[in-house]
Amino acid sequence: MSIATARAHPNIALVKYWGKRDEDLILPAAGSLSLTLDVFPTTTTVRLQDSADPPAQDVFTLNGAPADEKATARVSHLLDIVRDLAGTTARAHVDSISEIPVAAGLASSAAGFAALAVAAAGAYGLDLDTAALSRLARRGSGSASRSLIGGLAVWNAGQDDATSYAESVDGPDLAMVLLSLDRGQKPVSSREAMRRTAATSPYYDGWVSSTAATLEQALAACRDGDVARLGELTEISALRMHAAILACEPPIRYLTPASWAVFADIEQLRSEGVPVYGTADAGPNVVALTTPEHAELVSQRLEHHGAATISGAGPAATTVPTLAADATPAAAPTPPTAGGEA
Ligand code: DP6
Repeated sequence: MSIATARAHPNIALVKYWGKRDEDLILPAAGSLSLTLDVFPTTTTVRLQDSADPPAQDVFTLNGAPADEKATARVSHLLDIVRDLAGTTARAHVDSISEIPVAAGLASSAAGFAALAVAAAGAYGLDLDTAALSRLARRGSGSASRSLIGGLAVWNAGQDDATSYAESVDGPDLAMVLLSLDRGQKPVSSREAMRRTAATSPYYDGWVSSTAATLEQALAACRDGDVARLGELTEISALRMHAAILACEPPIRYLTPASWAVFADIEQLRSEGVPVYGTADAGPNVVALTTPEHAELVSQRLEHHGAATISGAGPAATTVPTLAADATPAAAPTPPTAGGEA
């Protein structure tokens, strides 16, 4: 029996990924840039089943409870890719603990698939470098490719499967203030909304072509350590993405009056000389990008909108020791033994 545990953190894109040019391989229409957070990690243990160990299908638990069919199918899909690479058909138990509070309204797929990719590669005995792990995580969820990397990460659109992965980028010290405005389910999943934007939004082509330019400018701002320019581009990228989404048929409105009120307060703070810029993913919650020195002030000034969490730049996805409790099948009659990595 082979077992491995890995931990990964969520990331928030400064230059957004929105649209695929290959749905199966999850190749993005354009490159993107993100900051991996130092809060809310996901820790995932993958344990190969013994051939004698029924059931002969993957089992996925999330925060201690069996996951639904759809989530389990997405996990199995990633494991199928790993099994192909490893030349085995062995099924696995996957136990995942996500520390993202429901109230944070953050997508869990980036950290989730990054942790799964690293743990699955370990459990199935694959020796993959960071680029290969990022490519693997990408097959689970595009944004997960960036959670392999600590701090700032660029996900290059690439030419094909082999060249589309995330890499580390040097840049200025940044912090984020995550504001929880709404804890409800998204009206439309980001995967579906992405598809609809590409199929029906007249602004999709403009979004894709302008993003390539925005990314180049954002990478230049990183090289120059220019927080103000990077922040401006971050806000522009988010608003352009939402503009393209709004123009879908039927339209999708992720941002609410509460979201716009935060963007207005961010603008007010900027007029007072605070370096702070807004962004938002496929939902109403707004994230403020700022510097570590200003994070506390930004949090204080915005927290009347909703619970605020300050994050700095977080670490790369990595394997961690398996807890004894995760190393033994739940139904096993023998006491747990300490597990190692793969
Ligand atoms: C708005 O990575 O969740 O957060 O590849 O279909 O799983 P799939 O999409 P996903 O999309 C994230 C979109 C975004 C912007 C971003 O993170 O770049």
